[in-house]
Amino acid sequence: MPKTVLITGSSSGIGKATASYFAEQGWNVVATMRTPENAGEWAKHSNITLIRLDVLDLASIQEAIRDSLRKFGKIDAVMNNAGYGLVGPFEASTNEQIKRQFDTNVFGLMNVCREIIPHFREQRGGTIINVASMGGRLTFPLYSLYHGTKWAVEGFSESLQFELQPFKIRLKIIEPGAIKTDFYDRSMEVMSKPGLTVYDAYVNKALPNMNKFGETAPGPEKVAQVIYQAATDGSGKLRYQVNSAPLLALRRLLPLSWFQGLMRKIILK
Ligand SMILES: NC(=O)c1ccc[n+]([C@@H]2O[C@H](COP(=O)([O-])OP(=O)(O)OC[C@H]3O[C@@H](n4cnc5c(N)ncnc54)[C@H](OP(=O)(O)O)[C@@H]3O)[C@@H](O)[C@H]2O)c1
Repeated sequence: MPKTVLITGSSSGIGKATASYFAEQGWNVVATMRTPENAGEWAKHSNITLIRLDVLDLASIQEAIRDSLRKFGKIDAVMNNAGYGLVGPFEASTNEQIKRQFDTNVFGLMNVCREIIPHFREQRGGTIINVASMGGRLTFPLYSLYHGTKWAVEGFSESLQFELQPFKIRLKIIEPGAIKTDFYDRSMEVMSKPGLTVYDAYVNKALPNMNKFGETAPGPEKVAQVIYQAATDGSGKLRYQVNSAPLLALRRLLPLSWFQGLMRKIILK
C-alpha cells in the first residue's frame, strides 16, 4: 500500500519540489497550501491531492488532516515546511510583524505537530519532518527574528523526539543552507521604520550580499531528495543538512568571535 505524506507550504520552492519528488516515488501526497486554486500544472500528477491549509488557521490544519485520513486511511509523514523570512534591523520591527513571523514559522508548525501526534501515536508510527534551516544553528546579521524562529524549531524538535520515541514516532530536522527559491524574493519581508535611517548603510550593504547567496544557490530538488531520505531511511537520525554542512562545521569548530568575524568579512565586503 502506498504511503502518504502531508506537506505544508507546497505552492513553491522546497515544498513544491518535495511534493513532486514524493509523488514520483509513488507516495500519496497531500500538497497543502493557502491557495490551491493557483497551484498550476505540476499538481495534476495522479498521486497529488491538493488541500487548503494556512498554518495561521488552526481549523484549516484540523480539516486538512481529517480530509487526508478520510481519503487515505492513514498518514505516514508530515512535513512542516511553510515559512518566510522577516529581516532587517530589529529596532524597525513592529509587534504585529514579530507575531506573524513566530505564528507562521513556529506556532503554526507546533499546531500541525499537535494535531498529527494522536494519529501517529494510535498507529504506533509516523515521521514528523520539520524544515528548520542552517539558520537554526548559526546566525547572520539582520536575521535576528527569523533566526529566533528557526532556533525555536530546533530546540522544540530535539526535545519532542524524547517523548515521541516510545511510540515509534520519528522526528527529523532539515537544515538547508541557501537554496534558490522564492524565499529571497516574495517570501522575504524587509523591515524598515520611517525616520530610522541609522541602519541604512549597513542594510544596503549586507542584504544584497546575502541575497546573492540565494541567487547562486542550488535549486530545491536536492532538498527534496534529502527529505525523502529522512522519511524513508528508517534511522533515528535527527538532523539532515543540505548545502550547509561546511558552514555548520565552521560554526561548531571556530570560537564564536572568529566565526562572527568571518561572517562580517563575507557579508559586509
Ligand atoms: N530557500 C532557502 O534558502 C531556505 C534555507 C533554509 C530554510 N528554508 C526554509 O524552507 C521553507 C520553505 O521555503 P522556500 O525556500 O521553499 O521558500 P518559498 O518558495 O517562498 O516557499 C515558502 C512557502 O511557505 C508558504 N507559506 C507562507 N506562509 C504560509 C502560511 N501562513 N500557511 C501556509 N503556507 C505558508 C508559502 O505559501 P504562499 O505561496 O501562499 O505564499 C510558500 O509555499 C521555509 O520554512 C524556509 O524558512 C529556506
